[in-house]
Amino acid sequence: MWRARSSHILLMFFLLVSTTCAHPGRRQIDLDLRVNNLLSAMTLEEKVGQLNLFDIHQTELDSAIAAGKVGAVLNASGAAQTNKLQRLAIERSRLHIPLLFGLDVIHGYRTIFPIPLGLASTWDPGAVESMARISAREASAGGIRWTFSPMLDIARDPRWGRIAEGSGEDPVLGSVMASAYVRGYQGMDLAAPTSIAACSKHYIGYGAAEGGRDYDSVDMSEVRLREVYLPPFKAAAKSGAATFMSSFNTLNGVPATANRFTLREILKGEWGFHGFVVSDWNAINELVSHGVAANRKDAASKALMAGVDMDMYSGAYLDYVAALVHSSAMPMPVVDDAVRRILLVKVQLGLFEHPYVDEQLEADALLTAKNRAAAREIAQKSIVLLRNEGNVLPLSKSAGSIAVIGPLADSKADMLGSWSGKGNPSDAVSVLDGIREIMGNATLYSKGADVASDSTDGIAPAVEVARQSDVVILVLGESSDMSGEAASRSSLDLPGRQEQLLEALAATGKPIVLVLMSGRPLAISWAAEHVAAILEAWFPGIEGGHAIADIVFGDVNPSGRLPLSFPRAVGQIPIYYSHLNTGRPPGVDPKYHTGYLDLPSSPLFPFGYGLSYSKFVFRNLDAGTRLPPQRELQVSIEITNTGTRIGEEVVQLYVREPVSPIARPVSELKQFKRIVLEPGETRKVEFTITRAHLASLRPNMRYALNPGTYSVAVGPNSAELVEARFEVPALKDHGVRHEDKGVLPVTVWGKRPKAVSRR
Ligand code: NOJ
Repeated sequence: MWRARSSHILLMFFLLVSTTCAHPGRRQIDLDLRVNNLLSAMTLEEKVGQLNLFDIHQTELDSAIAAGKVGAVLNASGAAQTNKLQRLAIERSRLHIPLLFGLDVIHGYRTIFPIPLGLASTWDPGAVESMARISAREASAGGIRWTFSPMLDIARDPRWGRIAEGSGEDPVLGSVMASAYVRGYQGMDLAAPTSIAACSKHYIGYGAAEGGRDYDSVDMSEVRLREVYLPPFKAAAKSGAATFMSSFNTLNGVPATANRFTLREILKGEWGFHGFVVSDWNAINELVSHGVAANRKDAASKALMAGVDMDMYSGAYLDYVAALVHSSAMPMPVVDDAVRRILLVKVQLGLFEHPYVDEQLEADALLTAKNRAAAREIAQKSIVLLRNEGNVLPLSKSAGSIAVIGPLADSKADMLGSWSGKGNPSDAVSVLDGIREIMGNATLYSKGADVASDSTDGIAPAVEVARQSDVVILVLGESSDMSGEAASRSSLDLPGRQEQLLEALAATGKPIVLVLMSGRPLAISWAAEHVAAILEAWFPGIEGGHAIADIVFGDVNPSGRLPLSFPRAVGQIPIYYSHLNTGRPPGVDPKYHTGYLDLPSSPLFPFGYGLSYSKFVFRNLDAGTRLPPQRELQVSIEITNTGTRIGEEVVQLYVREPVSPIARPVSELKQFKRIVLEPGETRKVEFTITRAHLASLRPNMRYALNPGTYSVAVGPNSAELVEARFEVPALKDHGVRHEDKGVLPVTVWGKRPKAVSRR
């Protein structure tokens, strides 16, 4: 009892401090004042009402809105519907507080762009930002002012279907993309009618599910949490993301939806996050299944106390929070804090001034020619050329006849990917459409096989079509519902009889261009040896067929790069480039080293990899010899396009820190730049490496710069690097605690964590 009381007192102190010390600035003070005035007019029941996110299909939604029991609605669609519901809130509820409409606008609203893994393959934050901006404009025209995006889960296990929804395996690439999404959705000012609030999800650790099984448990050290899984979320918070979503999984035994450490200590404490946290769908009720709550009432109490401000769908807050307050089991300031956060986002969005949207303008905002053009350009950048033996690609437009084969070659629906907002398959350009637009009657087509069935009936006719053609474009992979939520796979092989189809077509001796569509890296070792050209197109969105044709015929030079490692086989998982060296790395002893008897440890294609029709040569890396005192490290390298076409390269800079109390990865991406080079052009690319880039976590969970010889390596991917070394000189005692002597503490964004070790 005393324990419970004392933890309530601590929590109230925390809330007091965080609300009084927060929000400097005139505008923020005004906003807070408005919110506080409103709050003081609210009954407990009205406050609890704001904590609820109802689904459009929940029963008695209309009466609940009119009674002030609903703060937000998800899955409403279009201006007419959102306006109708909004009218109930504004005209019928006592305090006229507007509803917030949320939707999964993940990679487009009506204009559907490549899936997030494809967007990450652009290595172009500008592309991601413009995708998000266009999505915001379209969604807001239909009254949607809140998207459940970006998905920021680092994922290193492609069995996990939701790997498709994120930016891949790396915290730096993930962080750059996180900020780009937030900038795009939220614009310069949340109050602009075309801005929508971002929701950083799934906080936290969701991508590390055991066995790659969706929703499964997560167990990891605090070092890994802070260095790998938290950074994209931290970047989103720093960029002003208005909301966060807690995830379904447990983290070290404590569900993320009842995790005070990650929600109150890190997110709202260290990072000073002032927006609100929404649970994932029904996740509060699921605390009972997790076995950390005895019943729904207990679950409501645990989630709210931990810092989950809004309940998505479960209804547990609506049913129990008032009773918890009445029985003194829930302190009122905890409820007030949650309500204040939700109201603040509504005020920031300008919903009180502009609760409705103009139904006449909605249609004009959707799927404009400009939006389609952006979808095409971004899809072009997202496609990764994995192999191009004998420069089979690009094909000549007068190449004779082309066979387009494969179960995904003419599937418009699959172009859209697993989340497609208000996307419509009939808007999509399939690969067959795209090729036909260029080759007309010289295009032959055969489906060859289904994505997943065992029938081999289509293989012989497809072989026949291939024989009549000069070249085969073979479109294989997964259907779009084979990745995404609850879509984990135990195998990474091409499903159904597609491998058989591939091998039968290869046996014809015709040159094959394999176009892969998938939400995860597939195990394509055979293809990587036997097929001339391979393009990874992910699920490229409605303009995918055009974008693929643009690349196949060389109108566009491919420039996508892998945001994750491609394993040779499922047994290599988890696989990622920034692994630890171990005490027995490969090459030291012929037998006693880390790895497998039957496979190399290296991936089939490394992180950052992707070919171009141009050739880029990296030389003259210059990193000086030592980190100058009180200054940054300047690094430069020269890159020449030795090819005959204009092309884009993604110049990647990695660092390895030699000696640290906690072992460091063999290599860590720190920065990257996308450059365009004319044929024959040489460009000097410069990077500025700060102390924060070089600092690493110490056992006390604070960052510091360790002295020693560092390596800096620059190249086109994580495996082909030009390397140089520089010294970080030993540092004198900086007046820090004994255990930190000789290292320089480095402040990275956010408050210092409590100096305790929780690993
Ligand atoms: C569950 C998913 O995990 C989450 O990503 C999504 O935003 C919500 N459902 C709402 O649809």
